Amino acid sequence: MKNRTPTKDLKEQVGGEVTVAGFVDVRRDHGKLIFIDLRDESGKVQIIALPGRKEAHELAGAIRPEWVISVTGKVNKRPEKLINKNEPNGEVELEALSIAVINKAETPPIEVRGDGHDIGEESRLKYRYLDLRRPRMQQNLRLRHKIIKFIRDYLDREGFIEIETPELTKSTPEGARDFIVPSRREQGLFYALPQSPQQYKQLLMVAGFEKYFQIARCFRDEDTRGDRQPEFTQLDLEMAYVEREDVMDLNEKLLIELVQEIAPHKKIQELPFPRISYKEAMSTYKTDRPDLRTDKNDPNLLAFCWVIDFPFFEKADDGSWTFTHNPFSSPKPEHKEWLLKGERIPEILTTQYDVALNGSEIGGGSIRGSNPETIEAVFKVMGYPMEDIKKNFGHMLEAYRYGAPEHGGIAWGLDRFVTILANESSIREVIAFAKTGEGRDLMMNAPAEVKPTQLKELGIRLNQK
Ligand code: AMO
Repeated sequence: MKNRTPTKDLKEQVGGEVTVAGFVDVRRDHGKLIFIDLRDESGKVQIIALPGRKEAHELAGAIRPEWVISVTGKVNKRPEKLINKNEPNGEVELEALSIAVINKAETPPIEVRGDGHDIGEESRLKYRYLDLRRPRMQQNLRLRHKIIKFIRDYLDREGFIEIETPELTKSTPEGARDFIVPSRREQGLFYALPQSPQQYKQLLMVAGFEKYFQIARCFRDEDTRGDRQPEFTQLDLEMAYVEREDVMDLNEKLLIELVQEIAPHKKIQELPFPRISYKEAMSTYKTDRPDLRTDKNDPNLLAFCWVIDFPFFEKADDGSWTFTHNPFSSPKPEHKEWLLKGERIPEILTTQYDVALNGSEIGGGSIRGSNPETIEAVFKVMGYPMEDIKKNFGHMLEAYRYGAPEHGGIAWGLDRFVTILANESSIREVIAFAKTGEGRDLMMNAPAEVKPTQLKELGIRLNQK
């Protein structure tokens, strides 16, 4: 639309004639005077339709909430008595000269003006495009954008480059179930959606990139809870020629500067971030993501902490050893020998570091085993026959045979971090199109059946229900 003025700029246009466009938020009909609150992405403004402007006045009488209209009018200063100090545009109003209806709207099935907390979440997710109209959700997504932009700019300044990695890939052993995608060209074979870009980012280090990051979508077929979604977003990064301290240091600085810049009203409880060993966390707080806030009623207090020195392995239900975090990690330098010799397994500590914030695990990473021997040793401890190691991770073992710098990285659960900065209680409040706890997209109605011809092409026959 030509010459459209965002409502946030009207204060500077008093006396002028402007055109605004947006949704009708509220309409109040006082007979002679009709008031319309118009809402655009930047804010709101009160429009007044006077009987003297017959056409505009008649149209204003017919307009209903959520219609999309444009209004050309004069920006007037409100009479002193009617100034509303609580509204950004509380000192001005727009006197309508002409109104055009861009699109009418049916009455929305959910209220879009309040904060939405009183509406059932299923309705909010089904009508997400309406739910997102509410200022709270608009703010959450704007905050998310700002955080991601800050991260990208910061890491760019630090010499990182963002590299995209595939979403059609092969199953990675990261502890969750994979989402799999059948291949049409090779019936009976499957891609997996990545649980994280872990192997790719390590291979980028082998490829000679020294500072990689990605705002990466990850997929895990696990039961969802308030802080879990089947697809979620990580800030994923990896660095070459680093030790544990280097990665922790960079991330701590990034977190601090990000909070100072994007959420200056938040107070970080303790600097530098306290560090707690896994053992101490479990004995003192009975959790490996302790909530260290000294005042849990303060919504603006951020208590970050690092949890380190996790055991590398733990016993699985069947009595075999399994990794606690990441099979591609390196043990702490002093325990490398034990791993390579397969000794003192329960005592081996990993270089893993997790970062917790107010009781939520918002990130984790490690220094990697950057040679074939270390990677092989981990899978041997877990009882994988050499054949299986080769079949599943042959590409990794081979890659590391061609030389690799020492490297390590981390991934933040970006949705969780944004949730806390937004003072929300569920990650669904900071994801534009979130799924339900059962993994359904209620708006698109997914997952859904596909046509029999599609299944046939894939060579898939379903069991009779
Ligand atoms: P990890 O599996 O710990 O590490 O994941 C990193 C962070 O991602 C977040 N997260 C989730 N957020 C929302 N929904 C989920 N289902 C979900 N699962 C995990 C958590 C977690 O701390 N490749 C390694 C990282 C590395 O070693 O560099 C990894 O993915 O906040």
